[in-house]
Amino acid sequence: MHIGPAVSAGPRPLLRIENLTRHFPIMQGVFRRQVGTVKAVDGLDFEIPEGETLGLVGESGCGKSTTGRVILRLHPATAGRIEFGGKDITALEGEALRRLRRRMQMIFQDPQDSLNPRMTAGGIVGEPLREHGTARGKALAERVEALFESVGLDPRFTNRYPHEFSGGQRQRIGVARALALDPEFIVCDEPIAALDVSIQAQVVNLLEDLQERLGLTYLFISHDLGMIRHIADRVAVMYLGRIVELAPSDVLYREPLHPYTRALLSAVPIHDPELEARRERIILTGDVPSPADPPSGCRFSTRCPLAAPECSAREPAWRELRPGHRVACHFAE
Ligand SMILES: Nc1ncnc2c1ncn2[C@@H]1O[C@H](COP(=O)(O)OP(=O)(O)OP(=O)(O)O)[C@@H](O)[C@H]1O
Ligand code: SF4
Ligand SMILES: [Mg+2]
Repeated sequence: MHIGPAVSAGPRPLLRIENLTRHFPIMQGVFRRQVGTVKAVDGLDFEIPEGETLGLVGESGCGKSTTGRVILRLHPATAGRIEFGGKDITALEGEALRRLRRRMQMIFQDPQDSLNPRMTAGGIVGEPLREHGTARGKALAERVEALFESVGLDPRFTNRYPHEFSGGQRQRIGVARALALDPEFIVCDEPIAALDVSIQAQVVNLLEDLQERLGLTYLFISHDLGMIRHIADRVAVMYLGRIVELAPSDVLYREPLHPYTRALLSAVPIHDPELEARRERIILTGDVPSPADPPSGCRFSTRCPLAAPECSAREPAWRELRPGHRVACHFAE
């Protein structure tokens, strides 16, 4: 179902998605018959203004990575529309899609898995440049060295292999590779989750620094609500394939309106004495339902401490309760 227009925010949106949907068929048996559908992403609407960071949070399996992949056109959308730089890119193909790929990149969670162990770090960073034919020979080598420097790696190490670097340095290689083609938009999918706590802040600082220097726009996916509060301009909270609340970061943390957002925030200590003193503890009971068979009405109704009979009967509307603050709950006010 379409859940209304995207939340508008100041500057020109670089990205706008409408009713973005991605369903995966569940196949079974020798004849591979479709026996169901995983509604991984089920009708998302938002926009990201140029130069901003939208944080995307929610429990494991709620559809965050799929959202990032569909936006980058790594998975086809089942329904909906993706606009990038004012153009509909939902169905781009061939050379036009290839050109688009240069403008949007992804940084992955685990640099160990996403870097080819048999290639040198310089080879990995330079690969997109070779593939797109943008540089070769000496120009390529110089560009790779400049990319190493821009992410704080020693350019003399281009001939080393991924295993010769630390986890944090490997993630810097991943970042340098993502930057190689001068993208405008980057999906950061849990970029620090696999790193030692002691170096997480360094990688976050690097990403913030690059954003400022290069005017990048980020979709920043994370479980870490403390870090998202720090890095995101606005935050979208996702539950079972839907966005249940979206607000400017400071507003969301100060005054969460959706019971699910409240529950998520109640589970993390916040480095702010005032917020910490007011923090309620809400323990969610029950498992996350399967996205192949989501509850009727409000998808959160099976776990919501405030659920009333009408919650499972009727789907809550996606309402803008305050300027820029949207929520999908019958009782939020
Ligand atoms: N290629 C696929 N084929 C079938 N189902 C998939 C595929 N990719 C994801 N899913 C399903 O879609 C749902 C959303 O998955 P997704 O990886 O987007 O969640 P996530 O929010 O990124 O989770 P995590 O926090 O664990 O990374 C899950 O139920 C997952 O099993
Ligand atoms: S609509 Fe009902 S079940 Fe859903 S979040 Fe609001 S109170 Fe809870
Ligand atoms: Mg994921």
